[in-house]
Parts: sequence; C-alpha cells; structure tokens
Amino acid sequence: MITNKIRLGVNIDHVATVRNARGGIYPDPVKAALIAQKAGADGITAHLREDRRHIKDHDIEKLMAELTIPLNFEMAATEEMLKIATRLKPASSCIVPEKREELTTEGGLDVVNNFNYLNEYISKLNSAGVSVSLFIDPDVEQIKASKELGADKVELHTGSYVDAKGSCREVELERLRAGAKFCGNIDLEVHAGHGLNYETVIAVAKIPEFTEFNIGHFLIGESIFVGLERTILDMRILMDKGREIN
Ligand code: PXP
Repeated sequence: MITNKIRLGVNIDHVATVRNARGGIYPDPVKAALIAQKAGADGITAHLREDRRHIKDHDIEKLMAELTIPLNFEMAATEEMLKIATRLKPASSCIVPEKREELTTEGGLDVVNNFNYLNEYISKLNSAGVSVSLFIDPDVEQIKASKELGADKVELHTGSYVDAKGSCREVELERLRAGAKFCGNIDLEVHAGHGLNYETVIAVAKIPEFTEFNIGHFLIGESIFVGLERTILDMRILMDKGREIN
C-alpha cells in the first residue's frame, strides 16, 4: 500500500497538559484541534489515559461533536475504554500499552503475547464500526500478529529512532524501513509516530509505505514560539520534502 502524500494526525494531548497544570479550562485542546483542522491537519489524535492526566472525557465528547476531520482515539485495551469507544464511535481507535508510572507511551504493544485477548477486543471495536490501529514496535513478529488479528492498520513506534544518537539512529531507521516494507508486502496499512520533529521527520517520510504520521509533543511545543498553524504548515512542508512532493 504505497501512497504519495502522508496524512498528518495532530495529537493535542499536551494542550490539555498545560490546561490541567492550573486545573481550569484554558488553553482548550478542542480549540487547538479546530485550529489544526483549519491549518490542514488530516486528523486529530487524543489519548484518554486511565488516570486522565491530560485529555478528559468531556474533551473527547466535544472533539467528536465539533471536528469534521477524523478523530483517532488513543486508548489502552481496557473494559472502560472499550465502553467509551463503542459508545462514541471515533473514526479509529489506536490501541497503545499504558503504564501508570510512564511519562509517555514508552514501547509498542505486545500483540504476540496478548493475541487472544486482543483478538476478542478488536472484534468488539470492529462490530461497533470503529477501525483499529495497533501501536507496535517495528518488529516483524508483532506486525505479523497484528495482521493475523485483523487490525486495519498498525502504527510503528518511532521513539527508538528519534532517541538514538549517531550511527545508532541509522540502525533504528533501518528497522522502520524494514517494518514498513514488511507491512507493504502483506498489504497492511502502516502509520508512524512518537517523538517526531522537524529534524527527524524527513528521513521517515522518505519511507514510501508510511501513509500517516501522528505527531504531538513537538508540534504543541513549537507552537508556543511560532503558533500552531505555522508549525503545522512547516511540518507539512518537511513531510512533503521527504516524499519529494513540491
Ligand atoms: N502515536 C502514539 C500511538 C502515541 O502514543 C503518541 C504519544 O501520545 C504519539 C503518536 C505522538 O507522540 P509525540 O507526542 O511524541 O509526537
């Protein structure tokens, strides 16, 4: 599955992080999502964590009501999240592993060792009309298991690539290339995300199988200096540069 232009999903979790620092209603992540939509984002991603540390339930309800672009609802594979997703029916749910003590989503989902549980879980989401993405490391066994489960797509974790220094970065990039290629060979839609920024996005955009990037922390951070619209436009320029689209 090879497409030219990469879709950009903007993750707005960290607007909520800033809002919650003061416990009030400002800044509003839904307002940020609407600005991102206007600036050309192809989708909005929001992660409703079990501890509600950033996005809250009412944010998800409001996003569903106000967005005209798809909402990618990031969630852990819990009963509570299943109830929310099947009630609200976002365009897609991205299932991620979640640990209470982590700062962010630290590794990919272990699909191989949770196969039976996820199999049943995904069919419940699919029956409600929710398309499912699994957030996994670029590992062939995890990709194969995701395909066998009937996931509609996978999102490959780019965190190890972004964090790697020197020659290790090329090694991690090669893992992403091989993983994306494998997805292409088995006709599984493949996305990428985590930690991407202006410096790291071009090399990943050159990998032809990727159809979507989900980017949050960098975009929200950079928007403090130049505004969200400018940041999204600049990220888009770099994604297109990687794909050699003028
Ligand atoms: N994709 C997934 C599945 C994630 O969990 C996250 C982080 O919430 C992202 C993408 C975005 O990562 P970042 O905020 O580092 O750009």
